Amino acid sequence: MRILFVASEAFPLVKTGGLADVVGALPKAFRSLGDEVRVLLPGYPEVMAHVVQPCLPLPLGDSLGFGPARLIPARMPDSTLDVLVLDCPEAFARPGGPYLDPQGRDWPDNDRRFALLSRVAALIGIGGGLMEWQPDIIHAHDWQTGLIPIYLKQWRGHTPGCVFTIHNLHYQGVFHAHVLPGIAVDPSFNTVDGMEFYGNVSFLKAGLVTADFLTTVSPTYAKEIQTPAYGCGLDGVVASRSDQLRGILNGIDQDIWNPATDTEIAAPYTAADISGKAVCKAQLQAASGLTPAPEAPLLGLLGRLVWQKGMDIVLDALPGILDMGYQVVIQGSGDAGLERRCCEAAEAFPGRVATHIGYDESFAHAIEAGADVFAVPSRFEPCGLTQMYALRYGTLPVVRRTGGLADSVVDVASSSVGTGFAFDGDTAADLLAVLARVRSLFDHPVAWREVQKRAMEKDFSWRAAAVHYRELYDIVQKSKS
Ligand code: ADP
Ligand code: GLC
Repeated sequence: MRILFVASEAFPLVKTGGLADVVGALPKAFRSLGDEVRVLLPGYPEVMAHVVQPCLPLPLGDSLGFGPARLIPARMPDSTLDVLVLDCPEAFARPGGPYLDPQGRDWPDNDRRFALLSRVAALIGIGGGLMEWQPDIIHAHDWQTGLIPIYLKQWRGHTPGCVFTIHNLHYQGVFHAHVLPGIAVDPSFNTVDGMEFYGNVSFLKAGLVTADFLTTVSPTYAKEIQTPAYGCGLDGVVASRSDQLRGILNGIDQDIWNPATDTEIAAPYTAADISGKAVCKAQLQAASGLTPAPEAPLLGLLGRLVWQKGMDIVLDALPGILDMGYQVVIQGSGDAGLERRCCEAAEAFPGRVATHIGYDESFAHAIEAGADVFAVPSRFEPCGLTQMYALRYGTLPVVRRTGGLADSVVDVASSSVGTGFAFDGDTAADLLAVLARVRSLFDHPVAWREVQKRAMEKDFSWRAAAVHYRELYDIVQKSKS
């Protein structure tokens, strides 16, 4: 089967979160099943600079007012994965990030930038002489690609099937309805059954109502988003498509996240010989300015500093956490208020709390390996990858029982095959209660070691997810013919 992946980020070329990890890894799993995958990405400066083996560019016609655009077939730098780079300098050759300008504001033309990405995907999908390769399935990811099935419907004819994956329902790509002519979407789609959303238009809703099949990144999140508490105003829309919705748990790239071969960490280790982990802990304490205390449980936190991730719960609980003898290391960036609070915590508790504001892939590995415990207290979490990395590094996760966190971590209290700790509620007291349980197990090194071993031996490879997606692609393809 020929599959076109379309997304706004892919590791290692461009990454702001887990979406990039998924798009960088899942296609490789399809290839090992014998399928042909290409990944269409916007030509941001970092993508243009780092793809390898670029071929002759294919000229593209209409580019929604952005001037000339081209499609460059190339390869990912770290693998033989095929990428198609949408080179349109006026849309993508900018400083700042994929979605935000250097001051942290949304690019004012994000509607047209990602409509262009979607339009080019649809163009590749219908064939139309652009390139010989034509996909059987377009797999679109998140709101930035939500218009793909709209364009496919507009152009009719023989089109490939379109599977749309929701990585996070909270980000919806909502714009004023007056953008429609600029993105060349027929006004007939601006209805309550179409992409209209409370008087605006939503790219995410466009994908939800028009794709052939929907998926999200864990079974629990698939259920949660059909309820008002997690549906971000779209629970009714999602529920109306429940027959064509599956939750498929993400995998992780077990080559990149492997403590036995990881070159970013101080010493390699395995489930059979975990001795290197103590070296990693000492190194993390030293690099973070924490007191070199091998006996103190070291709690790691890593992620975007936004309401979703619940860092405020940790900060509220911090005095109690430190009273239990924990050290805390935090890495993240995002909301200015949360960044400030994390920095203030480090100043208030020198040697016991360390904060690294910013994005540092290498230090993320150091935290996953060097911490004893890894907390993910998210209010909602479609899947979450860092808790799975933690399991693989024998760093026992403490997660809020929601979304993919609930699907990937088994609490030691509820099962003899537990791999971590889960809690309900969203208050400092709830977090402190679970961390007290963690502390008691930590004080029993033999029992702790057993759980670590089980956690490290869990298989989170992408193969199982790829087989599931492949079944859906078959269903969609059959429904088209
Ligand atoms: P989300 O996609 O919601 O941000 P995930 O857990 O799915 O959450 O993925 C987050 C990814 O981004 C992981 O690979 C994690 O290691 C990485 N990450 C997040 N924040 C940082 C940071 N400040 N520095 C390095 N890596 C980070
Ligand atoms: C989103 C979600 C996260 C998920 C990631 C990859 O960013 O917030 O939970 O792991 O996508 O699917």
